[in-house]
Amino acid sequence: MASKGRFYPRGSSRKSSSSTLLFSVLAICSFFVLILLAYVTLSIPKTSSDSPKAHEVNSILHHTSTVERREDIEERADQWVEVISWEPRAVIYHNFLSPDECNHLINLATPHMEKSTVVDNETGKSKDSRVRTSSGTFLARGLDETVTAIEKRIADFTFLPLENGEGLQVLHYEVGQKYEPHYDYFLDQFNAKNGGQRMATVLMYLSDVEEGGETVFPAAKGNISAVSWWNELSECGKEGLSVKPKMGDALLFWSMRPDASLDSSSLHGGCPVIKGNKWSSTKWIHVEEYMV
Ligand SMILES: *[C@@H]1O[C@H](CO)[C@@H](O)[C@H](O)[C@H]1NC(C)=O
Ligand SMILES: *[C@@H]1O[C@H](CO)[C@@H](O)[C@H](O)[C@H]1NC(C)=O
Repeated sequence: MASKGRFYPRGSSRKSSSSTLLFSVLAICSFFVLILLAYVTLSIPKTSSDSPKAHEVNSILHHTSTVERREDIEERADQWVEVISWEPRAVIYHNFLSPDECNHLINLATPHMEKSTVVDNETGKSKDSRVRTSSGTFLARGLDETVTAIEKRIADFTFLPLENGEGLQVLHYEVGQKYEPHYDYFLDQFNAKNGGQRMATVLMYLSDVEEGGETVFPAAKGNISAVSWWNELSECGKEGLSVKPKMGDALLFWSMRPDASLDSSSLHGGCPVIKGNKWSSTKWIHVEEYMV
């Protein structure tokens, strides 16, 4: 009985070990089937969608434009990013704003335009100056849905928090008006109190300019005549690396190097408008949160 008693458990353990084996084989098979399925599912979109070129930064664009397209059916022109200089670090984001957004910013600003001032580098106060002859106004951060959408896009584009930005400044230059070369970073202690030093600037062109009005970087390193628009530049524009204003384009440049030291090659100015009108909008972005 004792041996029989031992026999039965052995038999049942043999049965259970063969069913365990069967179960394991099934489990392994279904595991491989699942892996195969996962592989097939994941590889379909890779092959069917054309992968964006790295310099197009389509991953950002796709995200922002699909979100926006729901409300605004307006067709957006091709967007692409063009690196124009490493010293200073500067890139153009083509068709960053739609024509409607450009006109909206101009309309918001028009009733409030005042003669532009500059920051006194010793007192930190605003002052009138012959080096800056445009007129302009600030739009409060988050003023309306369009302004907020643009500010979010700037944060996506620069990888800098929306809260670090000042309100958008809208500027208008008529024939002969200009902004002499200057730095966007502060040389005084007074202005850096809110948000710390200015780190980057996003300059958006809200209009085309027939002639002149370029943004010029007179201290840029590299071959300034290598830009494809060299022959269209004014005399002032040929004094450095220049960007021709084009409605909807945004120019991002950094006042600081990646190690947070001030970059003196970021010296820049607005060339006199020779023909037409220039509307632009500037977002200054600080190293820390800018209180409004
Ligand atoms: C302020 O600017 C003037 C003229 O550009 C310059 O001579 C002076 O050294 C500057 N002062 C400071 C504190 O940077
Ligand atoms: C600068 O670029 C222009 C246009 O591509 C070229 O013709 C010229 O030789 C370049 N100059 C230098 C110094 O590399």
